[in-house]
Amino acid sequence: MENFNFYVPTHVCFGEGQIKQLTTVLKPYGKKVLMVYGGGSIKKNGIYDDAVSRMKADNFEIIELAGVEPNPRIDTVRRGVEMCRENNIEVILAVGGGSTIDCSKAIAAGVKYEGDPWDFTKDRSLVKDALPLVTILTMAATGSEMNMGSVITNLETNEKLATGGVAMIPKASILDPTYTYTVNKWQTAAGSADILSHLFECYFTVNEGAAVQNRIAEGLMKTVLEYAPIALTDPTNYEARSNLMWSSSLALNGLTRLGKKGVWSCHPIEHELSAFYDITHGIGLAIITPSWMRYILSEQTVEKFVSFAENVWDIDSNNRDPFDVANEGIDKLVESFKSWGIPMTLAEVGIDHEKIRLMSELAVKHSTISEDAFVALNADDVEKILLACM
Ligand code: NZQ
Ligand code: ZN
Repeated sequence: MENFNFYVPTHVCFGEGQIKQLTTVLKPYGKKVLMVYGGGSIKKNGIYDDAVSRMKADNFEIIELAGVEPNPRIDTVRRGVEMCRENNIEVILAVGGGSTIDCSKAIAAGVKYEGDPWDFTKDRSLVKDALPLVTILTMAATGSEMNMGSVITNLETNEKLATGGVAMIPKASILDPTYTYTVNKWQTAAGSADILSHLFECYFTVNEGAAVQNRIAEGLMKTVLEYAPIALTDPTNYEARSNLMWSSSLALNGLTRLGKKGVWSCHPIEHELSAFYDITHGIGLAIITPSWMRYILSEQTVEKFVSFAENVWDIDSNNRDPFDVANEGIDKLVESFKSWGIPMTLAEVGIDHEKIRLMSELAVKHSTISEDAFVALNADDVEKILLACM
């Protein structure tokens, strides 16, 4: 296990009714709030009214930035920065999923930076300071509610890039599983696939010895695989929604990632698909992941895939060819994704051959997967992985 720092200062208020703590967690930072949200789901399900009425009752001054897009755009970030400056905003409240939270993080840091916030995606060291951020999570997926990451899209340049910094970590996050009851099947499946992908990206890494992280990851994978189907058929099942929500936070707050070496593999590839085709992040990952797994399965990696098959899928490996065991684990994953209603080909999400080569080259250019991924991938490798998803 490598040395690491684990610093997650987010105050997590978890459970039904935790919105009652909203003004308490906001107050230390001020009363002038920029409330950031997406396309309106929070107005339909009542979260907006509840949050606003509580803040108004406590004399908060609220400015709103509505309409944050899934795969949030840099233009929206720029608009948010201007609004904060014009209104002397003291604290940002993000109400939504990963897109709204990521956009709010970039706004929060953008206010404290003199240049263009798009610079953050090219150089993370520019994220030095940020306005305080509080979140109300409405969707289990990204873990953005408890981490320092932010992923922003620039449609002009077809770039979707990650940035981040300690200053962007939310000060507090309200995690009420009942707020996710209205998340539709598509987004529930996508979010669950995204959580799994975060766990896979940290599980399939070059160095061994981080057994704590591996066993926690396997437990979280099993949890998501158990509860996603329940949430899909019974959307108001509290036990399912609460386990998915807490898995989302724990899968990407560092717990399963630290002490390990190397960069992620599927995310840099998926970010290219989203940048060019604006597809749903978790769906793109679900399509790429099995193809990536089969591509990298070899004598060098088979042992790890056998652990995955045994510990996550309870597959008996006694006296069996390890490659058969490994492939059975991957088959089970595909079966699960299919049963959740996720399409398993790029064609089904509107992606044809046209930009496959370009996206493969950019996935390598925008990341270090050709150097330090679990299995190093060059543009030809990425192209083969994507072509196998057609
Ligand atoms: O915009 P609204 O109206 O809120 O609707 C959203 C959106 O259409 C809807 N939704 C959210 N909560 C809902 C709801 N609908 C009904 N009821 C609710 N309670 O769901 C749709 C998707 O929302 P979005 O925020 O885009 O989803 P998600 O949480 O999956 O975030 C995806 C973004 O996060 C990035 C992705 O790349 C993508 O841009 N990621 C961020 C990471 C991070 N910060 O650490 C890591 C991830 O790997 C990921 O890259
Ligand atoms: Zn993700």
